[in-house]
Amino acid sequence: MSTKDFTHTQVGIVGAGPAGLVLGHLLHRQGIESVILENRSREYVEGRVRAGVLEQGTVDLLIEMGVGERLQREGLVHHGVELRFGGVGHRIPFDELTGGRGITIYGQQEVVKDLIAARIESGAPLLFEVDDVRPTGIDTDSPALGFRHGGEERELRCDVVAGCDGFHGVCRDAVPDGALTLREHVYPFGWLGILAEVEPSSDELIYCHHDRGFALHSMRSPQITRLYLQCEPDEDIERWPDERIWAELHARFECKGWSLKEGPIVEKGVTPMRSFVAEPMQHGRLFLAGDAVHIVPATGAKGLNLAVADVRVLADALTRWFAAGDESGLRGYSATCLPRVWKAQHFAWWMTSMFHRMPDDRDGFMARLQRAQLDYLCSSRAAATSLAENYVGLKHVVLATEDQIV
Ligand code: APR
Ligand code: PHB
Repeated sequence: MSTKDFTHTQVGIVGAGPAGLVLGHLLHRQGIESVILENRSREYVEGRVRAGVLEQGTVDLLIEMGVGERLQREGLVHHGVELRFGGVGHRIPFDELTGGRGITIYGQQEVVKDLIAARIESGAPLLFEVDDVRPTGIDTDSPALGFRHGGEERELRCDVVAGCDGFHGVCRDAVPDGALTLREHVYPFGWLGILAEVEPSSDELIYCHHDRGFALHSMRSPQITRLYLQCEPDEDIERWPDERIWAELHARFECKGWSLKEGPIVEKGVTPMRSFVAEPMQHGRLFLAGDAVHIVPATGAKGLNLAVADVRVLADALTRWFAAGDESGLRGYSATCLPRVWKAQHFAWWMTSMFHRMPDDRDGFMARLQRAQLDYLCSSRAAATSLAENYVGLKHVVLATEDQIV
């Protein structure tokens, strides 16, 4: 579609990550028009490697939206997870502890590919390689998105703007100074992640506590293993030739009767660890969702799931507004989403704090506390249930009512 074909839409969506694409699809199913503007190419967005754990509620929604066909075929359903410490593994059985719930392993980039295919199939506009997106007039009834596409300067007038443009996007910065409260915690470590062409060494994920630092065994398919190592936040990947990565992984995962399978490493990268929330998640006619308004550290894999939970609430609120002029859902958007956001923040912070070697832990006090917490988790059904119900995902909430709006 040429950008000349439109000058106005109901919802201008910035960003074609999981948040923007799920929102666009939910709106399309309600007959609400949207335009998605993405600054990267389709190839780049579809190739970006991120986490791959989908909560039950995320899976249910994707299926209900009609984009779950490949996910149901190729996704790996897991009913538990292993916590490994002191060289011994302990299984937390999600299904037994949560009334049959579980998680599905399916890469975020696969979710994104399925959503882009559905968007293109629907004929609704999705523009890649859009430059210099500028939200304007968000304090008025006629906000707009200025941008450049194919060398031409354009303006898209919108009824509302959805900022789904990730942590480094432009929408959050369009909110006037002082209107948002930002809270942040930066962790003194990062993750070095690899994809290896080898069958997973275990049927389930392994979160591993070790004196040398945290390690995680995950997967993408029966042929691809995903592995992570705690590293420095600004780690230089050049210092990690393949042999060093495998040696470190073997050392941290060491466990009697178990061995880690090696294969060619096809992807390597370092991810910093950060917690961040901007409140409220809306200003005037701008609504922020996903990484644009909150970041969680990767331990627990809540990022994509939180983004999907946000836009589900936003799509319901917009549907009420466009269908009946009922503004209450939009006014309550932030109040509805934030309790879930903070619970996920807490879970991700707790998992991160329990598993990572703390750089200033000189006498090992923190490490002893971590081991006590892990021991407790693996010996108390109540404690294990708390981990399990957070891991498989808290129930999606409905819109807040007027009296809950602050
Ligand atoms: N203009 C247009 N698009 C932009 C701009 C911009 N100025 N800035 C960023 N984008 C695009 C990015 O290229 C990206 O495709 O916005 C999209 C944001 O997508 P994500 O970063 O994936 O964020 P979100 O959709 O909120 O998904 C939540 O879960 O696993 C986590 O961090 C992970 O991506 C993840 C997220
Ligand atoms: C992943 O598979 O990439 C993954 C799994 C679990 C996490 C984080 C990332 O906690």
